[in-house]
Amino acid sequence: MFNPGLKGVTAAETCLSQINGEKGELYYRDQSVHDLVGRYSFEEISYFFIKGRFPDSNELQSLKKVLIKERSLSSEIKKWIDHLVKKQSITAIIRSAVSFLDDSEDRWPIQTHEAYRLLAKLPTIVAYSYRKKMNLETVEPDHQLGHVENFLYMLFAERKTKEEVQALETYMILTAEHGMNASTFSGRVVTSTQSDIYSGITAAIGALKGPLHGGAPTGVLDYIDEVKQKSVEEVIKAKLANGEKVMGFGHRVYKATDPRAEALKAMLLIIEPKPNWIDFTLKTEKETFQWLSDLKPGRRLYANVEYYAASLMKAIGIPSELFTPIFCCSRIVGWTAHIIEQSRNNTIFRPEAKYMGNK
Ligand code: COA
Repeated sequence: MFNPGLKGVTAAETCLSQINGEKGELYYRDQSVHDLVGRYSFEEISYFFIKGRFPDSNELQSLKKVLIKERSLSSEIKKWIDHLVKKQSITAIIRSAVSFLDDSEDRWPIQTHEAYRLLAKLPTIVAYSYRKKMNLETVEPDHQLGHVENFLYMLFAERKTKEEVQALETYMILTAEHGMNASTFSGRVVTSTQSDIYSGITAAIGALKGPLHGGAPTGVLDYIDEVKQKSVEEVIKAKLANGEKVMGFGHRVYKATDPRAEALKAMLLIIEPKPNWIDFTLKTEKETFQWLSDLKPGRRLYANVEYYAASLMKAIGIPSELFTPIFCCSRIVGWTAHIIEQSRNNTIFRPEAKYMGNK
């Protein structure tokens, strides 16, 4: 049987998340994301994925200590990033930096401390690379701050408001894990050869980098800008005629509202002062859904997480070149949890290809 894109094929067993695409529901392990958002920190959610339960207060303190200790970057890796900054995008730099971090002899089965190490270092790599690219003075981590607040501090060299930190933390929690998407699958395939966590994560980052996966939010802002100049009808009709997709709409699994998009839309409305373009973003979503329903009947192309991720990050003042890198910093949780899960119950991935003749 051949299913292009492995549509509908079950490729692994997992305890990490569950998606009901028809109902638009997402569960992290056995908990609905609706019940987790606003109740737990990004650190607690990471522990929940990696350990299978929430930490008690002592365990949370120990986790925070580990993450704080691992936040800093060595002078060697900084030098390496300084060299890459001139020619690579920030997502490509993260991919290279993860390879650089591979100094472990203790490779199999994958160890949880490697996951925490990557989780702690990625935001520092992103902030350091971004500020170097912009010719700004780099900012060392502030050990008094939580994971997300410190990330924003290292990016902007100033403390962001409580609402802005909450908005980014919500985004990072909602995008921490999402089943067998292309990047997670890539990480699991590499791990299935008994390779190391660093190789699995570099493969995952490579897959996330593509415009149909983690690269979509930048396209969302371009789409909204184009609509501002023209109209939803004109832009969508031209895109469909060119065989292009409207970024931020449609999903392989969700055939109902993406629950993450709904939660991010709610977050967007708490940012103060309210940016004047938010109403236009909301209106464009409604109109786009209507036009896609008319032009692609029966396809159920709702706004996905990226539509509101783009707007939320814009509202916090995050430039678009950081959208995919920040996605890496949240999805590292799901990637590492899947890699650990794969390493504990492993069968090498080896599907078949259908030979079509020597064309
Ligand atoms: N804009 C226009 N048409 C779209 C579309 C979009 N965003 N998403 C899907 N379609 C169309 C497809 O072209 C297809 O049309 P056809 O049946 O006439 O050939 C139909 O809807 C069904 O597509 P579907 O099978 O649901 O999509 P998929 O599973 O192959 O692809 C995505 C899923 C996410 C890759 C796709 O929806 C997409 O590219 N979206 C835009 C990029 C994006 O926002 N990515 C972030 C995902 S979280």
